[in-house]
Amino acid sequence: MNPIIMDHPLIQHKLSILRDKRTGTKQFRELVNEIAMLMCYEATRDLPLEDVVIETPMEKAVCKKIAGRNLAFVPILRAGLGMVDGVLSLVPTAKVGHIGMYRDPETHEPVDYYCKLPDDLPMRDVIVLDPMLATGGSAIDAVDKIKKFGPRSVKFLCIIAAPEGLDAFTKAHPDVEVICAAQDRQLNDHCYILPGLGDAGDRIFGTK
Ligand code: PRP
Ligand code: URA
Repeated sequence: MNPIIMDHPLIQHKLSILRDKRTGTKQFRELVNEIAMLMCYEATRDLPLEDVVIETPMEKAVCKKIAGRNLAFVPILRAGLGMVDGVLSLVPTAKVGHIGMYRDPETHEPVDYYCKLPDDLPMRDVIVLDPMLATGGSAIDAVDKIKKFGPRSVKFLCIIAAPEGLDAFTKAHPDVEVICAAQDRQLNDHCYILPGLGDAGDRIFGTK
């Protein structure tokens, strides 16, 4: 499945500020949430609706509401946490699961340390959140774990994706739609994305 690249001017403008090394922690955090909120609009495009009867001040009308209990957001810790408030501002009733994972600095393989998902996942559409898809290792492992709980569907929402990561991810999970704001050029020797934005977790939490 080809990724959806959200080239909306508002997203691209915010992304350029995010990439800028002069952007400080406070603004970086705000921008990650704002971009996640705008991207969530696309990620939720196919949520099922149901008819409801509403009484307007004028008359009764058959209107639409989102049907049933639907969504679960699953951020990959740490950096995915930076997207949670943004998406919850659009879908405040969604459940939130967490997957803890970091990349080994030598091998660049994901090391997982935490997993807590809503127990009614088979009733839910899952949107996995992580700003960066680099080698794809973390995203592939996270979706492997989530699929074991039998969710209705899975999408992966990231801000920047490397071609190498997109390739690996779509091979491992051809059924999972990837939505990103940019596909960047390549990975460097340390598996960081070029031009990228640096280390997303460190920039969100101010740890470097
Ligand atoms: C970053 C990022 C992804 C992962 C992407 O997390 O948030 O989870 O790297 O790289 P990959 O596609 O090569 O697996 P990191 O390991 O830096 O952990 P952190 O969020 O705790 O800083
Ligand atoms: N993780 C990040 O935070 N940034 C990258 O460029 C690659 C992985």
